[in-house]
Amino acid sequence: MIPWELLGRAQVPGNSGELRLYRRGREFSIRVNGCELMNSRAHGSEDALAELACARVADRPRPRVLIGGLGMGYTLAAALRQLGAGARVVVAELVPEVVVWNQGNLADLAGHPLRDTRVTVREVDVARILQAEHQAYDAILLDVDNGPDGLSLQSNNWLYSPAGLDAAFAALKPEGVLAVWSASPDRSFTRRLRQAGFVVDEVPVRARGQRGGGRHTIWIAVRGS
Ligand SMILES: C[S@@+](CC[C@H](N)C(=O)[O-])C[C@H]1O[C@@H](n2cnc3c(N)ncnc32)[C@H](O)[C@@H]1O
Repeated sequence: MIPWELLGRAQVPGNSGELRLYRRGREFSIRVNGCELMNSRAHGSEDALAELACARVADRPRPRVLIGGLGMGYTLAAALRQLGAGARVVVAELVPEVVVWNQGNLADLAGHPLRDTRVTVREVDVARILQAEHQAYDAILLDVDNGPDGLSLQSNNWLYSPAGLDAAFAALKPEGVLAVWSASPDRSFTRRLRQAGFVVDEVPVRARGQRGGGRHTIWIAVRGS
């Protein structure tokens, strides 16, 4: 068995948590306080997050997409594959070192999505963008924790609260799509999405896509006009 090698560590801004990047052969893992946030061997559901959301907005004129959490860049790469030349994608990443890792050790994994000229990276809490922007995005994709519960950062709980969902609703254009990744279903989150005014579809997806793997959940929540 090849041992895990620690490649990098980073302080999570705003709390005492630490993010670590590990490699074992060709496999990479990002962990927060010892708990795995992302592993390069399984990214079917991270791809599906982008595919399900972007399929609904790709044919709009110059669609704008916000992705919360760069991770290993799989969701970003899948969004770029789905979107045309006129699209613009903003990636909000809380931990600056994650961006550096994606320009170095992790860059090959998803095929260098940060080199795409449609992409702008903002090293900021995605909550700040949601609080500041109004009717700005056709789709907002959130994969910053392991579900609607603050894991990377305690204050991420706000994103899944009624106030956070109201902010996401307001940041979306009419008929815009909020998509949220989760390792497991969560009925109370589905209820909160509906209470915020979204039309909600809870989609079961597999960690390895067509090849199966663990069962994950993606909420596709559509804002009315
Ligand atoms: C599970 S990973 C994302 C995986 C990504 N979907 C992929 O395809 O590789 C979560 C990422 O979200 C970032 N993050 C956590 N909280 C955040 C926040 N509030 N705003 C922006 N990024 C955040 C973490 O630093 C990490 O890079």
